[in-house]
Amino acid sequence: MKKTAIILTLTVMAAFSAMARPLIIPEPAQYTVGEGTFTMPARPSVGGDSKAVAKAMEYLSVDGIKTSKSSPSKADIKVRFDASMKPEHYTLKVTPSVIDIAAADNAALMYAIESMRQLSDAGNGKIAACSIVDEPRFSYRGLMLDVVRCYIEPAEIKRIIDIAAKLKLNNLHLHLTDDNGWRLEIKKYPRLTEIGAWRVARPELFPGRLNARSADEKATEGGFYTQKEMRDIVKYAAAKNINVIPEIEMPAHSIAAIASYPDLACPVVDRYIGVFPGIGGKDASVILCAGKEQTFTFIQDVLDEVLDIFPSKNIHLGGDEANKSVWQKCPLCNKRIADEHLDGYEGLQAYLMDRINHYVRSKGRTAMGWDEVTYGDPKEDMIIYGWQGDGSIAVRDSRRSGRKFIMTPAKTMYLIRYQGPQWFEPWTYFGNNTLHDIYHYEPVTDDWDDTLRANLLGVQGSLWSEFCKTPADMQYQIFPRLLAVADMAWRPEGRRDWHSFLKALDNFTPTLDKAGISYARSMYNLDHKVKGDGKKLTATVNCIRPDVEVRYAFDDSSMASAVPYTDTLRIDKPVTVYAATFRDGTRIGKTLVLKLDFNKATACPVTGNCRNGLAYALTNGLRGSDRNSDFEWAGWWNETAEFTVDMGKVTPVNEISLGTLVHSDICIAAPKQIYVYTSVNGTAFTLQRTVDIPDELIYHKQARIVDIDCGGFKADARYVKLVAVNPGCVPDGLAREGAPTWMYFDEIAIK
Ligand code: ACM
Ligand code: ZN
Repeated sequence: MKKTAIILTLTVMAAFSAMARPLIIPEPAQYTVGEGTFTMPARPSVGGDSKAVAKAMEYLSVDGIKTSKSSPSKADIKVRFDASMKPEHYTLKVTPSVIDIAAADNAALMYAIESMRQLSDAGNGKIAACSIVDEPRFSYRGLMLDVVRCYIEPAEIKRIIDIAAKLKLNNLHLHLTDDNGWRLEIKKYPRLTEIGAWRVARPELFPGRLNARSADEKATEGGFYTQKEMRDIVKYAAAKNINVIPEIEMPAHSIAAIASYPDLACPVVDRYIGVFPGIGGKDASVILCAGKEQTFTFIQDVLDEVLDIFPSKNIHLGGDEANKSVWQKCPLCNKRIADEHLDGYEGLQAYLMDRINHYVRSKGRTAMGWDEVTYGDPKEDMIIYGWQGDGSIAVRDSRRSGRKFIMTPAKTMYLIRYQGPQWFEPWTYFGNNTLHDIYHYEPVTDDWDDTLRANLLGVQGSLWSEFCKTPADMQYQIFPRLLAVADMAWRPEGRRDWHSFLKALDNFTPTLDKAGISYARSMYNLDHKVKGDGKKLTATVNCIRPDVEVRYAFDDSSMASAVPYTDTLRIDKPVTVYAATFRDGTRIGKTLVLKLDFNKATACPVTGNCRNGLAYALTNGLRGSDRNSDFEWAGWWNETAEFTVDMGKVTPVNEISLGTLVHSDICIAAPKQIYVYTSVNGTAFTLQRTVDIPDELIYHKQARIVDIDCGGFKADARYVKLVAVNPGCVPDGLAREGAPTWMYFDEIAIK
């Protein structure tokens, strides 16, 4: 009885909340349904206080809505500014006869008009009567664009600004300088853009690109923004209530500056350093010399011009990932540490950041930095971007220091990561940050006190563009995930309704189409999990969109025989599963192909010490792709791998092979040796074979899957144990020379 009542209540609540959310992204704080419908005339009249009317007409014209002025009593859209409202707050009341807007400021007025536009999009200019009282959860709602790794024209930045403004984002963080390019004209240092804006074009994926050997290699890839262009971008953004934050990196990620002015490096750097086409290998430890006064003069001169171009109160000084190994060898850096009584090389970075922070403050601005700058405990206020892992370094720092911070954790808010099942995505780094992950991101945890909450200024989606080559590539990574960033940055804390968010997202996509944005449809693709249960394989597939039908077929690539997927599939013989999402009978997502093979190890349990918890993938009958993070590879880092398959009963073993991924550009190598053991009881193991892997198989630039023959003996065994020895660091001459290696294994096939 009780159970039924609860279920009924939940159903009613779900229906209510689905109805109660308007098709607006980001979701407004309060929305109440009214009575009747307002029909937008072809040329609506706008009335109210004159400043608000002028601004409203400007904002309406952005979407091509032609308007006329009228008295407030006759206006279709009535607007006014209300000085008693908090910044960015607005109210929007729609009745059958009039739309009434009150707004705190220009931004709020623009937001009200955008909310109105999204409401009217749902029904051809018809807006259901309603009342909205709206305010943002966070005062900082950001997008970072890395225009270094992928330079895009000003018009392309503006295209993104247009959409960011519609999503009520208010900060665009431009990552302007790095090892791969300097993107802003600095008049006092012309070589920064003559030399620093250009790198040698290499066809490989970013991590596989080797450095330029000398200045004779022509640097043709890149570009930069003239000061005039950048002022124009800043003005364009400001008109849409978006503040542009420039980031000038220091002391690391500064190779483009050093390539332009080699004296900025420590004097111990005596080799040619060009702008990096990729990661830079060992040269990535070359950073600005903190022992030279010249470095400080350079940074301050650059900042003088930057501050003149960007009115932003906040200026980002980078500060991340500074490898100190060159500083350790530099007499000038060591002298600075001794003279200033600094606490080692971290202390030296803190000294540099403090001096520049002080300079920025002396100009009336506030410095910002990535969370590594907290290691040096800045002497004066600085705003911290929490990026490492889940952002906890910034949180810990703020608890201790009271510093303000912004959350852009790599784990959730880095838009470089895969946004959907990896087999369907363009090649990129790391794991997955899906639309669903971002929508459900919550930076605040139960143990935060009021002070910590107040110190969190907001959140940001950050696009690192190492794998982008065109504006469309960047758009693909940004959209539609930016809609989820904007929604979680704005909607009230604790409010989440994934289903109705998706409806609002669908309502918004015509706006992306109209803007010529190439957005991803990854949310329609299926991810999978195939596991052994000792006897059979179980295959589950999942789509982050619950409002699609999933169908599957066995051995039928046409999917003509496809039937609805309702539950886990259980499979005991070789088969290829084809599965996809459908809507209204039409396939909507890409077709997932699971080719399941069987051998004596398939579906058997595996025990092993792997780092990524995917030992089961070794016997799940399914091969991994060329992406090590596709959840089909069991991984070991800088250590010996050991795993044991239990076949359940004593079985003749004639052949064994082990699938291995090799991709030295991302530090993945084959083992140098594999020891093969068998056992009948799981305690006494006999060494059957030692496999020596030839050097030419251990490293390979592009991704390659190698099946290593570990057989060549016959035994009766229940258990097979493999011990694979790590080959050590990537050798010299390859892009990641000197870096420790991963080993990734996929199927162990026993015949
Ligand atoms: C960063 O991702 N290095 C800030
Ligand atoms: Zn130095």
